[in-house]
Amino acid sequence: MSAPSMMLYYNAASPFARKVLILLHETGQAGRVGLKPVAVTPVNPDAEVCHDNPCGKIPALCLADDNVIHDSRVILDYLDHQHAGHPLIPRDGPARWRRLTLASLADALLDAAVLIRYETFLRPEEKHWSDWLDNQAEKISRSLAYFETEAVTELSAHFDIASITLASALGYLDFRQPNLGWRSSYPRLASWYYEVSQRPSMLETQPPA
Ligand code: BEZ
Repeated sequence: MSAPSMMLYYNAASPFARKVLILLHETGQAGRVGLKPVAVTPVNPDAEVCHDNPCGKIPALCLADDNVIHDSRVILDYLDHQHAGHPLIPRDGPARWRRLTLASLADALLDAAVLIRYETFLRPEEKHWSDWLDNQAEKISRSLAYFETEAVTELSAHFDIASITLASALGYLDFRQPNLGWRSSYPRLASWYYEVSQRPSMLETQPPA
């Protein structure tokens, strides 16, 4: 196999980086991208990442021509144009807007979960803002309720941008909020997640134990 032509700044705990890794596996491109682990938080930027992505966030994908693509959504879109198989982001029609909207809701759920992590892990306990934490938690439950009642059948039809993003979000909830117990409130989603968790792309990209 030839050497990877691209390099991804990532962290094994990042659900946004996991989305990229899942898509790489699903589209047979994992060997094309070298992985560069970095530890970054909003209060601990990495100089090399900042050089390549001014806002210092991961994932960021460095291309062979030295261009850098960042934000997981843009990276997924780019990589989905680099393989010959069935697109994981529908190219046009109502399916495109529906699947991107579901992915966007799953991204918003992820944002809320990561913000809770930052607030509780990085911020001193005496400064924790409970109203703000409660509202992030409510965003998560409203989003999960929507997926449970309105979208689980659609999700089952394809493992694509919407499914990848939601699977990454649910994996992150299990990783950082293991006591949340979301499965009892959202049994259809739990069953969908159990099924997709068996995919090699999910097994190969699990967050650290
Ligand atoms: C985490 O450790 O929870 C985390 C790491 C990178 C990005 C987002 C979250």
